[in-house]
Amino acid sequence: MTLLHVMSDTDRNDVRLSTHDRAAIAEHLRPHDITLSTWRAVPLPGEPSEVDIITRYEQPARQLTREAGYEVVDVVSLRPGSDAETRKRAAEARAKFLAEHSHDEDEVRFFAHGFGCFYLHLDDRVHAVVCGPGDLLAVPAGIPHWFDMGENPNFSAIRFFRTAGGWVGNFTGDDIASRMPSLDELLDIP
Ligand SMILES: [Fe+2]
Repeated sequence: MTLLHVMSDTDRNDVRLSTHDRAAIAEHLRPHDITLSTWRAVPLPGEPSEVDIITRYEQPARQLTREAGYEVVDVVSLRPGSDAETRKRAAEARAKFLAEHSHDEDEVRFFAHGFGCFYLHLDDRVHAVVCGPGDLLAVPAGIPHWFDMGENPNFSAIRFFRTAGGWVGNFTGDDIASRMPSLDELLDIP
């Protein structure tokens, strides 16, 4: 499931576009130099390890790093908390990424397992892009955005960087995420 949900940045109920059509989503994002592409999803074990993911997607990951010049590749994984401590850590991780920020380099993520939502703040609109297995999203440097992994985070994504410090965020201080629908709300859109 992939979703693009475009809203006014002052009113989440002022919805300008909402579509699950991957081709339409890619077309809509292209003028902003944001790339949504698809890799053929490979079956994974129920609880895939980082090695499972890197091994299964080694070929397209190598091709992308070669073509685009990425130097650093890693896997980020979060699983639903089975105890209070794990749930607390997940809530802390979620809160950190909900703060609007930008980066000095592109943010490039491939979703191998589960779902996450990137909210791209473009002019006076918020483009919420829910990514699922097989989705590769590349957001250019400088675009203000945030990320919601949901109340019960359950995803694995491959991250691509040009430099080791490329993930450092420049935070805007805007709490806009609190006024926009969460990943869990967006996943409920039929
Ligand atoms: Fe980011």
